[in-house]
Amino acid sequence: MGNITNSDMNQDLKKNSIIRLFNVSKRYNGKFALKDINLDIEQGEFIFISGPSGAGKSTLLKVLYLAERVSEGQILIDGMNLARISSSRLPLLRRRFGMVFQDFKLIPNRTVYENVALVLEAAGEKPDYTRKKVMQVLRMTDMDKKIKAFPPALSGGEQQRVAVARALVGEPAIILADEPTGSLDAKSAQAVLDFYHGIS
Ligand SMILES: Nc1ncnc2c1ncn2[C@@H]1O[C@H](COP(=O)(O)OP(=O)(O)O)[C@@H](O)[C@H]1O
Ligand SMILES: [Mg+2]
Repeated sequence: MGNITNSDMNQDLKKNSIIRLFNVSKRYNGKFALKDINLDIEQGEFIFISGPSGAGKSTLLKVLYLAERVSEGQILIDGMNLARISSSRLPLLRRRFGMVFQDFKLIPNRTVYENVALVLEAAGEKPDYTRKKVMQVLRMTDMDKKIKAFPPALSGGEQQRVAVARALVGEPAIILADEPTGSLDAKSAQAVLDFYHGIS
């Protein structure tokens, strides 16, 4: 933790940081995907990262939820140093994140309802709570009319809304969305951004 200076420590007292990156680099086969990134995200903050294809946006999200380890630097999530997370505590860390993947990663042979409910079932939630919460997030994303549909029968926008509902259902502290507007026209993209902004 040699990178944290006194002035950073003073900032800590004032700020409610939930994500902090200190001099983070990630190399793949010696080539930098992320180079010396410093980032400080507060609770409730809405951050939008843009950049050309290959800029390292997906890599940044991956090092946050530990799909990848950094090559250099430190990441603190809610005060936890990711370098010190043991594999047994990894599921607990992951539960702090709601992920919306670029390709949605919905399970094709499970219904809309089942795709969302799986998160809470895996976390051992009670069936009553699961039913209520799943319907609540599906209403929020306007997908409650399609609970029995299978993902391949949905439009791209509908699949995305199921992916958002699945990300929200565990009430995560942090929502990460990779290219949330990538495949949308400008009007739909604005609606999606407004939605994320509204829940942050
Ligand atoms: N698993 C990997 N193995 C090797 N190189 C990778 C891997 N993942 C990403 N990269 C490289 O890292 C760079 C950043 O990629 P990425 O984070 O996917 O960019 P973006 O999401 O901004 O398009 C690219 O040059 C990409 O080829
Ligand atoms: Mg990407």
